[in-house]
Amino acid sequence: MPTRRSTPPQSLSAHSGPVPDREAVDTAAARPVRFGALGTSSFGGRRVLPAMTACPQTELVAVGGRSPERSQRFADRFGCAGSSMAALLERDDIDAVYISLPPSLHGEWAARALHAGKHVLVEKPIATTAAEARAVVRLAEDRDLVLRENFMFLHHPQHDAVAALIAEGRLGGLRSFRGAFCFPPLPTEDIRYVPGLGGGALLDAGVYPLRAAAMLLGPGLRVAGATARVRQSDGLDLSGQALLVSPSGVLASVEFGFEHAYGSSYSLWGEGAKLTVGRAFTPPAAYQPVLVLEEQDHVEKFTLPAADQLTASLAGFAAAVTAGGAAASPREARWRQDAVAMMELVDAVRAQAVRVTVEG
Ligand SMILES: NC(=O)c1ccc[n+]([C@@H]2O[C@H](COP(=O)([O-])OP(=O)(O)OC[C@H]3O[C@@H](n4cnc5c(N)ncnc54)[C@H](OP(=O)(O)O)[C@@H]3O)[C@@H](O)[C@H]2O)c1
Repeated sequence: MPTRRSTPPQSLSAHSGPVPDREAVDTAAARPVRFGALGTSSFGGRRVLPAMTACPQTELVAVGGRSPERSQRFADRFGCAGSSMAALLERDDIDAVYISLPPSLHGEWAARALHAGKHVLVEKPIATTAAEARAVVRLAEDRDLVLRENFMFLHHPQHDAVAALIAEGRLGGLRSFRGAFCFPPLPTEDIRYVPGLGGGALLDAGVYPLRAAAMLLGPGLRVAGATARVRQSDGLDLSGQALLVSPSGVLASVEFGFEHAYGSSYSLWGEGAKLTVGRAFTPPAAYQPVLVLEEQDHVEKFTLPAADQLTASLAGFAAAVTAGGAAASPREARWRQDAVAMMELVDAVRAQAVRVTVEG
């Protein structure tokens, strides 16, 4: 089958599509948004806090963790103040709080930060249930504060290119979406293996393909069925699958887990072609994404520019804070609604999953 290399499709800005608008980030903003970080997590230390100190639109003012020694180590490393978690929320030199705690603490600390008048960027998932997500969202709306999950992939322009190909009719009528985020087992002490901390593959990995399905197929997805491989000792889900259907009849399936070889991809299958995104959720900043479009008699590959989705997430959040009027802005309302909708899908997958018990 012949393969053709093509120039990237037009950006989504020329179309109306399902992906949220990218922020037009004002790099000449008056002053950076001042962050306090809650949690001395591995991910925060390796990825987010270095990006936050480097991003011109954000400034890291303080780090608060449960251990004073570890908080101080982070503070020394990033040239900011060390604090307890509660004291960090009292600081009046902080505009926003970044939360990287175990998922079971996301809702509670997001609520505490909002009560303290801070904007909140919380690691995914926003909460562990839809009811908890709704309560946090209501609080953000009542207080007119920005509340976003740090779903970095949503900020990568490769999904604009996907939406542009759909809008140009290259796939024809959409028939199905398939998404997967799977990776190998983690160290046994990892928070993802602790049920009481919001562990489990659905909350950690399943939320990615679920969110991607919602991003591309729009609101109103329903869960038609689910399966889970759960650990014999405590019922923690190690992997799973779910079937969904969109209001217009597009079928979706998602797969997730941490007992696999690495995979982070989605594909969309239409009546005219199939489109695959090979590094959907965690493309490194220097990686040039390749979209593969398969038609009946040929394959076309689109190589896109590299993009730093983490910095885009931080800069987009900072732009929203700087713009003010968080509750009234349709863009911010969409972020909040999407977060609640995803947790409703998570609840439905959890409720419907046929469980098979495995050693682990
Ligand atoms: N957006 C992404 O791409 C991405 C990627 C990876 C992770 N994450 C998210 O980032 C968060 C942290 O993940 P991680 O892998 O970095 O985990 P981690 O290194 O284990 O960090 C967990 C943090 O929570 C604290 N903690 C643990 N148990 C606690 C408890 N009972 N009470 C209070 N604090 C507690 C830990 O404190 P100590 O430092 O004192 O141990 C640590 O600061 C998770 O929400 C995860 O979903 C997001």
